[in-house]
Amino acid sequence: MIDIINKIKDDFWTLLQESNSPDKIDSLRVKYLGKKGDLTSLLKQLASLSIEEKKSTGALINQLKDDITLKLEEKFKYIEDQAFKTQLLNEKIDFTLPANKIKKGKLHPITLVNNEIQAIFQELGFIIAEGPEVENDYYNFSALNFPADHPARDMHDTFYLDYHEPRLLRTHTSGTQIHVLEQFKPPVRVIMPGKVFRSDADISHSPVFHQVEGLYVDKNVSFSHLKAVLQYFLESFFYKGASIRMRPSFFPFTEPSVEVDVACVICKGKGCSMCKQSGWIEILGAGLVDPNVLKNVNIDPDIYSGFAFGVGVERLAILKYGINNIKLFYDNHNFFLEQF
Ligand code: DAH
Repeated sequence: MIDIINKIKDDFWTLLQESNSPDKIDSLRVKYLGKKGDLTSLLKQLASLSIEEKKSTGALINQLKDDITLKLEEKFKYIEDQAFKTQLLNEKIDFTLPANKIKKGKLHPITLVNNEIQAIFQELGFIIAEGPEVENDYYNFSALNFPADHPARDMHDTFYLDYHEPRLLRTHTSGTQIHVLEQFKPPVRVIMPGKVFRSDADISHSPVFHQVEGLYVDKNVSFSHLKAVLQYFLESFFYKGASIRMRPSFFPFTEPSVEVDVACVICKGKGCSMCKQSGWIEILGAGLVDPNVLKNVNIDPDIYSGFAFGVGVERLAILKYGINNIKLFYDNHNFFLEQF
């Protein structure tokens, strides 16, 4: 038995010298220490020995087992250290290579246009207010002088949230006029940006889009104030000297109401494909606040008057940056956003 143990020891030494990879060390471990390994089968053979022999031989085998375990661990660590040293020697970092490009975030074109609109009106003393996106019929329609069952409601393609007590997604920012006038008494000069929702989608319509509402209520506010403010706004936003024109229109909450056009931002009024050769581009709706709206918020229309307007932010961005599909605003592809 002693001879066998010595032979195993010698063989192990020889094999250990020859093993130069983690895999080979592992095979040695299995060969000597594994369940069916040489030492395990030796231990099993102890059964046939006398008690004394069992003690002495068993101790020898266990000693060998500890030695082998330790030697395998040492060799394994040595191999790993060598591999790491070789790696360090071979791996050279070229500090002259250009670094990876870090992409810088940019503001979304809708945000840029919103910021610009707000900055222009803040110069004129307007403050900014935001209203809720979930409204009820009162704020979105009734208080704005839409009579019940009036066809103008159908034009809004409203998303209703409940059937019995109608909450809805606001179809325009005009309802915020009511919230503001419930809280602030004239003089009120306010810009109300926000998301609006309509059940409508094609190349120039999205079910969610952005509007900016404007409102000025004070004593003696007249149509000429509206015209001057919009002229200033559109010239500041598009280009100095841009002419505007007003065409009669209808909105329940303004009387009189107008549709405002700006001389085409591409051809400056000469006629091109953008303005369908008309020289004009429709930009926004506006008018003098209907006396019924003022009455709904307990403001006396015999003392106060006001003007209001509403403008689509996507529309302004499309015209300013020459964008041909409204979906581009919402896909948020880098190739699009990087351009602003
Ligand atoms: N709320 C209208 C719409 O979404 C836009 C509008 C028109 C707003 C005239 C106004 C206004 O304040 O005076 O189509």
